[in-house]
Amino acid sequence: MPAIIKAVHADITKMQVDAIVNAANSSLLGGGGVDGAIHRAAGVDLVHECRLLGGCKTGEAKLTKGYLLPAKYIIHTVGPVWRGGTNGESDLLRLCYSISIDIAAKQGISTLAFPSISTGIYGYPIELAAEVAVITVRAAVQQYSNIKEVMFCCFSGSDLAVYEKVLNEASV
Ligand code: AR6
Repeated sequence: MPAIIKAVHADITKMQVDAIVNAANSSLLGGGGVDGAIHRAAGVDLVHECRLLGGCKTGEAKLTKGYLLPAKYIIHTVGPVWRGGTNGESDLLRLCYSISIDIAAKQGISTLAFPSISTGIYGYPIELAAEVAVITVRAAVQQYSNIKEVMFCCFSGSDLAVYEKVLNEASV
């Protein structure tokens, strides 16, 4: 059975999945946007675990427990800051998605939700980011039979429309 890949309109901190992905910064110690929401909802024990991780480079990812979240795990990844698109942004964004799936598969995770990495404070244009996200996730899940469902968690109706369009168009 191929993995189900879909977009939903939701607050990622409420999602009933094995793991959620956090669009973090390289300190891993919290911030604004979805990162702030995840830290608030998970509780203060999350930052205690994060302090032990030694940060995270752009395009890499690290796993923690989910603490007070419904999700058992959080995969923290650091997306690229958009600097016009000619500074390796798409390669780095691709790595965020593929490494997060690698970590999830190795942890035995079968359901996973991603936020729209880099498209808030980091300024990556949503149409371009959604294409990278969909194409990368479709390819990555084919390597792992234990990943059953991946959801793109959109925080606004307009983001959801973009992801649904790309999911309907992009063929890999
Ligand atoms: N659930 C789902 N998506 C959300 C939520 C939520 N609760 N809250 C926001 N979003 P951003 P970035 C969406 O800015 O661009 C932080 O300060 C939001 O609407 O959170 O990767 C970090 O510490 C947008 O579509 O992440 C870094 O410093 C998406 O999540 C920096 O922001 C990503 O927006 C990372 O910037």
